[in-house]
Amino acid sequence: MTTMDARSLGTSVRRIEGPDKVTGTATYAGDTPVAGEALVLHPVQATIARGEVTGIDTAAAAALPGVVAVLTHADAPRLVETDDPEHRVLQDTTVHHRGQFVAAVLAESREVAAQAAALVVVTYAEAPSSTAFDPDGETYAPSVLGNGQPADSSVGDPDAALAAAPVVMKASYSTPMEHHNPMEPHSTTATWVDGRAEVWEASQGAELARQTLATLFDAEVVVRSPHVGGGFGTKGFLHAGSVLTVLAARTVPGRPVRFALGRRQMFETVGYRPATVQHMSLGASTDGTLEVVAHDVVGATARYKEFVEPAGGSTRSMYAAPHRRTSHRAVALDLDAPTYMRAPGEAPGSFGLECAMDELAVELGMDPIELRVRNEPDVHPEMGLPFSSRGLVECLRTGAERFGWSTWDRAPRSRLVDGWWHGVGVGCGTFPAFRMPGSTAEITFTGGRYVVAIGAADIGQGARTVLTQIAADALGVDVGSIAVEIGSTEVPVGSIAGGSAGTASWGSTVVEAADRFRDKYGDSPDDGDHADAATPDNPWAEEYAMAAFCAQFAEVAVHADTGEVRVPRLLGVFGAGRILNPALARSQLQGGMVWGLSMALHEESVVDPRFGEVINHDFANYHVASNADVRDVEAVWIDEDDPYVNPMGAKGIGEVGIVGVAAAIANAAYHATGVRVRSLPLTCDAFL
Ligand code: MOS
Repeated sequence: MTTMDARSLGTSVRRIEGPDKVTGTATYAGDTPVAGEALVLHPVQATIARGEVTGIDTAAAAALPGVVAVLTHADAPRLVETDDPEHRVLQDTTVHHRGQFVAAVLAESREVAAQAAALVVVTYAEAPSSTAFDPDGETYAPSVLGNGQPADSSVGDPDAALAAAPVVMKASYSTPMEHHNPMEPHSTTATWVDGRAEVWEASQGAELARQTLATLFDAEVVVRSPHVGGGFGTKGFLHAGSVLTVLAARTVPGRPVRFALGRRQMFETVGYRPATVQHMSLGASTDGTLEVVAHDVVGATARYKEFVEPAGGSTRSMYAAPHRRTSHRAVALDLDAPTYMRAPGEAPGSFGLECAMDELAVELGMDPIELRVRNEPDVHPEMGLPFSSRGLVECLRTGAERFGWSTWDRAPRSRLVDGWWHGVGVGCGTFPAFRMPGSTAEITFTGGRYVVAIGAADIGQGARTVLTQIAADALGVDVGSIAVEIGSTEVPVGSIAGGSAGTASWGSTVVEAADRFRDKYGDSPDDGDHADAATPDNPWAEEYAMAAFCAQFAEVAVHADTGEVRVPRLLGVFGAGRILNPALARSQLQGGMVWGLSMALHEESVVDPRFGEVINHDFANYHVASNADVRDVEAVWIDEDDPYVNPMGAKGIGEVGIVGVAAAIANAAYHATGVRVRSLPLTCDAFL
């Protein structure tokens, strides 16, 4: 077993579309040039959390000069019946959540569209709603988690083991609702020409978007997503606004329609990470050997569409313990449906598990790194499979050395510098490494270059660039001989940029096509020579557990008088197989770590339970980390040779960067102050 030879892989090839992006010539779904003057869509959104629309008066809106159409459930084109209620846009009178689209205006300008939408009068019959997350209230057992995993798992007898364990640590941790806010909000431009829809979509996967729209409209659909300004999970599956835009465009054949969500609308109709409360129970012997790990999660979901954050999922693979349990219970709310948000499950779940491990270490009087090392499993603790590679201990050791861990006194509240309490903390994490099926790659030699076509999505992670490197190495040529075509359904199908599996999935497919090409034509092809391949299955998928691991280190300073929390230093050490492009990888991992910092200190969506509305729905009120928060953020990796994951030897790095960071910061804040905060974000008041 070997991974492919690397000549370009492992080097920092510059981002291919970088010059287009910085010179403004790269176009996005909301600003792509289209033939003909585009109409602007402005939606009318429900002002109740639950009930029925009883009437819509569109007369004043329709009379406004510049308004071309006002769509309501009464006159919108019919969609093919779908079991995804989020896609049933303007098909009936039911209101599932505040902010749901109940009408839409098409107008010649953005201003007129907005003014007209404000003139639409909607009346409702309001039904009782529940929008406040009460983890102690009524819950139910979901059949499956958002990532497709079962809701519960159990090994041995966790309750008996807890009762018998010499040292027990029990605590509950909470994480809030959080909204992903990629720099580019969702946008759609759509035109119907001759019964076919052409759609430019801010999407993590043009093909998945195409399939969704083609099914809903029973029509031929082309989707183009050449450039996407961040995805983070919210652009994985289509949301209502995209369907609404294509629906509206159908009423004005030949005219393009554009809908670019404003920042506030990003808090209303495109999903979010739901709140969790995580009840942790750890039992250990006095030397720190874990006897039992239990992670019982209660999480919010939407009544009309279930998505349950798999917060206990990664606890199934982190530490050895003979007795173990994970469970997930859900609370159904009348809110927009939650969805995948960067490291869904792992990000909030690592806050519960990794803070609990820190608390257990304190209880045992043990170094938290040594506690983790002591409980390193030989095989996957629940599946029983060996890991294809598992770098957690090396990440911890490497990080401790680099971070100067041993120079700190482990006693809390032991270092006061200029009025700030300083401390250090560690938090670990994992993210699965897998391959999505369903891509096809085509390689054609033409004009002296190899054109490599696959419907991959570059959402800012650098897919174009790294696929060029993969193709170059697989074909044994320079990167300059490769032209990659991605980001559209006009090239062969590609799976989504999601699950941190984009590069693994498309890359494996490109390597397969390149192998076929070389088998057919050798290394001196003729113009027009062509080969293609579908994504090969990983023959090792059933033999090994595969995942990236990380150890995150934080230094935190908490102001002795104000409780203000700052993070002067973050170090993430990653075991993620071969790093294919160090520059791209570093920026992606650092980006994840910054998000973890943001999650630790700032992010929290606040729902007003009277209306079911996220009230801090803009960047003035929903705080994300700014430059002033981000000090020294370093991402490094260990050398990890994994011949089993894929021909490149690479594990995904899109999500593991965020995992463990919030726990590292909370643990460091405890070390700094002696105050244990079990609820995110870590606001000043908690330390006073
Ligand atoms: Mo990711 S949350 O799988 O886009």
